[in-house]
Amino acid sequence: MRFAAFTSLAALVPALTLVAAQDGSAISATSVVSGVASSASVTGAASSVTSAASSTITSASGTGTSDSAASSASVNPLTEKPPAAVPSATGSPTGFIPTGALPPSQDLCSSPIYCPGPLLQAVQLAGIFEDSKTFVDKPTSKPESEVVDNFNRLGGGNTSNITYQEIVQFVQDNFVAEGVELVPADLGDEFVEDPEFLTRVEDEVVRDWLKQVHSYWELLARTTNSSSPSGAQCDGCVSSFIPFNESRVFVIPGGRFRELYYWDTFFVIEGLITSQLQSVVKAILENFGDLIDRLGFIPNGNRIYYENRSQPPFFALMVDKYIEAYNDTSVLERFLPLLEREMWFWKNNRTIEFTSPFTNNTHNVTHYKVDTSAPRPESYLEDYKTVQDAGESGLELNDTQKATLYSNIAAGAESGSDYSAARWSSRPTINLSDTIPAQRFLETAAQLPVDLNAILFACEQKLSAFYKISSNQTQVNATRANYWAQQAQARKEAILDLFWDPSKRFFYDFNTTLGDRAPFFTPAGFFPLWAKILPQEFVNESISIDQRRQNLQGVFSGLRYIIDRFNGTLPASLVTTSQQWDFANAWPPHTYIALEALRNVPDILGAGAQLAAENGSFALIPMHNGTNQLGQTQDSLPVQGLENQPGSAINETLAGATDPNNAAVELKPALNTGNTTSGESWRDELVRELANRYVASALCSWRATGGKLNTTDPAFQPVADDVLTANGLNASTAIGNMFEKFNASDINAAGSGGEYVVQTGFGWTNGVAIWLGGQLGANLTRPDCPPVIAQNTTPAEA
Ligand SMILES: *[C@@H]1O[C@H](CO)[C@@H](O)[C@H](O)[C@H]1NC(C)=O
Ligand SMILES: *[C@@H]1O[C@H](CO)[C@@H](O)[C@H](O)[C@H]1NC(C)=O
Ligand SMILES: *[C@@H]1O[C@H](CO)[C@@H](O)[C@H](O)[C@H]1NC(C)=O
Ligand SMILES: *[C@@H]1O[C@H](CO)[C@@H](O)[C@H](O)[C@H]1NC(C)=O
Ligand SMILES: *[C@@H]1O[C@H](CO)[C@@H](O)[C@H](O)[C@H]1NC(C)=O
Ligand SMILES: *[C@@H]1O[C@H](CO)[C@@H](O)[C@H](O)[C@H]1NC(C)=O
Ligand SMILES: *[C@@H]1O[C@H](CO)[C@@H](O)[C@H](O)[C@H]1NC(C)=O
Ligand SMILES: *[C@@H]1O[C@H](CO)[C@@H](O)[C@H](O)[C@H]1NC(C)=O
Ligand SMILES: *[C@@H]1O[C@H](CO)[C@@H](O)[C@H](O)[C@H]1NC(C)=O
Ligand SMILES: *[C@@H]1O[C@H](CO)[C@@H](O)[C@H](O)[C@H]1NC(C)=O
Ligand SMILES: *[C@@H]1O[C@H](CO)[C@@H](O)[C@H](O)[C@H]1NC(C)=O
Ligand SMILES: *[C@@H]1O[C@H](CO)[C@@H](O)[C@H](O)[C@H]1NC(C)=O
Repeated sequence: MRFAAFTSLAALVPALTLVAAQDGSAISATSVVSGVASSASVTGAASSVTSAASSTITSASGTGTSDSAASSASVNPLTEKPPAAVPSATGSPTGFIPTGALPPSQDLCSSPIYCPGPLLQAVQLAGIFEDSKTFVDKPTSKPESEVVDNFNRLGGGNTSNITYQEIVQFVQDNFVAEGVELVPADLGDEFVEDPEFLTRVEDEVVRDWLKQVHSYWELLARTTNSSSPSGAQCDGCVSSFIPFNESRVFVIPGGRFRELYYWDTFFVIEGLITSQLQSVVKAILENFGDLIDRLGFIPNGNRIYYENRSQPPFFALMVDKYIEAYNDTSVLERFLPLLEREMWFWKNNRTIEFTSPFTNNTHNVTHYKVDTSAPRPESYLEDYKTVQDAGESGLELNDTQKATLYSNIAAGAESGSDYSAARWSSRPTINLSDTIPAQRFLETAAQLPVDLNAILFACEQKLSAFYKISSNQTQVNATRANYWAQQAQARKEAILDLFWDPSKRFFYDFNTTLGDRAPFFTPAGFFPLWAKILPQEFVNESISIDQRRQNLQGVFSGLRYIIDRFNGTLPASLVTTSQQWDFANAWPPHTYIALEALRNVPDILGAGAQLAAENGSFALIPMHNGTNQLGQTQDSLPVQGLENQPGSAINETLAGATDPNNAAVELKPALNTGNTTSGESWRDELVRELANRYVASALCSWRATGGKLNTTDPAFQPVADDVLTANGLNASTAIGNMFEKFNASDINAAGSGGEYVVQTGFGWTNGVAIWLGGQLGANLTRPDCPPVIAQNTTPAEA
């Protein structure tokens, strides 16, 4: 009964009607069937809103088709396994699906179903699912050739004559539920309810929350389904999934991200190590090893449609964390040759020689660049629209330019910061309510990314170290160790030359079109400091230690001001663009990297008090030639919610001001930054403040979506059911969402914007929270969460 599961699930499709603005400014659900999906109410930062579980994007198909269906993107992964998304043709049951020019076929993606070609284009342009990723995650229910033949017969063999009804029927008849290639994994005896790190978390509310977050590993752990290893329902059936050894567990991010992801997993692993789940960490590393064996590099995730691109390359650093935590170098026997191979992929496929305009020195520098001239299969409709429609810019593209844009779109996805318009688009603010126009101007490959090069520097250093300590004497190889040490040294010189701006005291991406560093402050600039790359201003011993310390405080002066200005944690940029890697979105990896950048500051430079800030901490940001590190004036920066109004809690003019007679006395202490400890150094103070902001964002938004704590503290009693209901949540099943991203100005809310609806679950969010508990448990205090206000969610205006 191949179709039984599918049809019975189809019968369960909830009457879920969603109205979503794609920019995320207003996403809301009008009705939800109990036990299925929780829904969303995400609004802008102006009010304290619970933002919620999830919902689905109404994709614009040009013909205004379906706006109803239950996509698995709309299901909290912390609840029951979702029903399969079912295609819908309700909007236009008799119309023809859109057609258009086909992109060229792709060398690095050749499946006739899951890769660019007539079948994929027909299904995706029809927009029958809320999320384009749903279709490419559906295994076939018939042999591949039969599916292709069935497709070829649609419309009487004429692709411009296919109706919505036909395409919906085709998908129903030839595919099964997305994600059946994976099954929940049992973590077995290794999972303990009370891991040791909890004893280090002193606050009882934070501790109880982290204990629950720790338990979510059991919900995010997966293995490959042994009864149908590649999701295959029959001989010759296919899916896009790249299966792993069936005994090997891995951790998924959650939501629509239902497989193993590359850079997410570094942050997941930090949490898993803290949670004492060694064998899970090891299994994940082995799975990544398999991917390098297969491809020579690690793809974005284990799907064939990701095989043309990678993600920020953290594998060597994951191996290093494992070895450091467990003193088990035996893994190098397998991984050393694989790491060598992966590093050569970045050298051979992603590296260019570039001559610095500052020194005339030529460096090898790595950038994100993907060999493709077609839409990403999992975002086909969005990419197709971006490239084919001139839209409001009126800029028409010829075929060469279209191919380049497709490549830059994929390269943006490879960067992991998909999309930061500030970093990758030449028109970042062209339209603040639609993500597509700015994406038409993506120039990802023309940027030399500071974070990527810092990550590779760290990998090269580790690889060198691994060759010195490797697990058996055959592998110890001084030649290889020296080679990678030299590569790291050359990389460091490139980073200091191209990305370090001595006058602004910060690191920036380099824009090769501009021939200069990009003007935007983003957390990417913290990666070199995280990798312990220190410019001369801090290490040159001919400069006094006081001066060097002050120089270094200058580097972190922007961060200090941001903490004073906004309620939440570090935002992805200071430019509001509606993209998900720009203001006001704040992402777990960025907080982690900025914290580690601070913690990696040499003790001698991190010592001493904060600089006094009589005129507020903005005044401490070094100015040069009329501009500063943030690239903006105090007035041009985004504002903190409602706090600009008289009588508000934060006065931005005075934010961060200290008593002129005593720098240790803050006149307006920043909110939710933990408890000051006496004699704390400037470095430890910032670490404490930023760490507590992360906890505040993650804990308050979790509580606002139904998270319940075991405490008598009146401030942490559960949010009332009627409020949860009014905010579009299912009060009986809501257990609190760990969001993939936060809102830098509203700690009760999730982040918003971007190409897909906010996801929950969520691997790296949980990883960073648990890691913080383990590292800084004594410094974490329970936050002040603003009241959760009933939104009485109604459909948002278009
Ligand atoms: C359109 O498709 C229908 C079947 O769906 C077929 O009968 C008809 O001949 C087709 N017309 C053209 C012009 O291809
Ligand atoms: C890497 O470069 C090689 C040689 O040019 C090429 O064959 C291969 O397809 C590239 N791989 C990727 C994933 O781009
Ligand atoms: C780590 O392992 C090595 C070799 O097995 C051993 O010599 C060393 O003492 C171990 N270190 C720790 C901290 O356990
Ligand atoms: C040591 O490592 C090398 C290279 O990976 C491998 O070929 C060899 O079999 C290993 N030797 C032992 C004794 O494990
Ligand atoms: C770089 O070289 C050009 C041409 O040779 C020269 O004009 C310029 O002054 C040099 N710049 C630096 C920083 O040395
Ligand atoms: C860049 O890398 C290539 C390949 O490793 C090497 O041949 C070349 O000399 C390097 N260029 C510089 C400027 O280091
Ligand atoms: C496409 O447009 C660009 C920019 O105007 C131009 O340089 C290029 O020659 C054009 N290519 C084709 C194939 O028309
Ligand atoms: C890079 O510089 C060019 C030339 O000044 C500019 O037009 C473009 O907007 C910049 N690109 C990005 C992504 O900032
Ligand atoms: C070190 O590795 C290189 C190849 O990368 C090899 O040629 C050389 O023989 C190795 N040296 C030792 C001591 O194993
Ligand atoms: C100062 O800024 C102006 C205007 O942006 C620019 O033309 C000039 O080159 C800058 N001077 C220095 C020394 O950077
Ligand atoms: C902030 O403080 C400044 C200086 O005391 C004052 O002029 C301004 O009115 C205050 N703004 C608000 C919104 O309270
Ligand atoms: C920011 O924090 C203050 C103090 O807790 C609170 O009054 C305000 O509502 C918060 N603003 C937002 C948008 O969350």
